[in-house]
Amino acid sequence: MTGTIKMNEPPPRPQMGPPGKSLKYNVKHTILVMSGKGGVGKSTVATNLAVTLAMKNFKVGLLDADINGPDDPKMLGVEEEKIYGNKEGKIMPVETEYNVGVISMEMALPSHDTPVIWRGAIRHNAVKQFLEDTSWDNRDMLIVDLPPGTGDEPLSITQLIPDADGIVIVITPQDVALLDARKAINFAKKVNIPVLGLIENMSGFVCPHCGYETDIFKKGGAEKIANEYNISYLGNIPIIPEIVDDADSGIPAVAKNDYVKKFFNDVAENLIKNLKK
Ligand SMILES: Nc1ncnc2c1ncn2[C@@H]1O[C@H](COP(=O)(O)OP(=O)(O)OP(=O)(O)O)[C@@H](O)[C@H]1O
Ligand SMILES: [Mg+2]
Repeated sequence: MTGTIKMNEPPPRPQMGPPGKSLKYNVKHTILVMSGKGGVGKSTVATNLAVTLAMKNFKVGLLDADINGPDDPKMLGVEEEKIYGNKEGKIMPVETEYNVGVISMEMALPSHDTPVIWRGAIRHNAVKQFLEDTSWDNRDMLIVDLPPGTGDEPLSITQLIPDADGIVIVITPQDVALLDARKAINFAKKVNIPVLGLIENMSGFVCPHCGYETDIFKKGGAEKIANEYNISYLGNIPIIPEIVDDADSGIPAVAKNDYVKKFFNDVAENLIKNLKK
């Protein structure tokens, strides 16, 4: 009989454009998540975006390249896991229940309160090893959560992946943050990696009790900047209190909250379109 839907059959693997040039790390597309300054939601975006893409049936890896402040394992509920090597001596990503394999310094530390007191060159080598010596196993996408800002560390990481498909810049909408966002855009130009798009995070707040919208950090600034620089605007994520609670309890909000998922889904769809270009 034609048109029968077989139950329990996984959806077909989505088709992407031709692989990027990150094949030396055995991944097809590499996406760097950065911001002009700290605390704007890079790790929140990197983890939830990775899970959203995995829900679309892409094979996704997440590299937490923030050696001093590695938050991704906690946000994905795997901070008690340790990374280990396989028989070939390759580092194995820790597979989360959200079908995202993650590598982070957090999972190589003896305890959660051990600080990484390393000079820049050693941190650079750690990220290099996470890229080169990990069994990424031909993933469709590798999301890299960069350390904050436009300084020495993000620069040295971009030099490890000069042929990344592009950079996603996370911005909060208040004027002072937009100033830093411009620096991030110019950073991307300097390192000659395309900007795949801007995301406005913490963009407005709708009171869950009365439904009244307050634009705590303003709203719409990222889209204006995207137009000004002629780059893509991927979408916005409002301030949603559950995002904080879920991150703290190790569950990516998109996995349990349809309201949050809707915003990340729009961002992911726009990102996929730009990857295909
Ligand atoms: N849209 C949002 N709504 C509510 N809380 C958010 C949102 N985005 C991020 N947060 C919260 O803001 C805090 C900072 O976010 P996050 O750690 O993702 O930022 P970051 O840019 O990665 O920071 P750092 O520069 O320190 O690495 C976290 O507690 C996170 O849960
Ligand atoms: Mg972070």
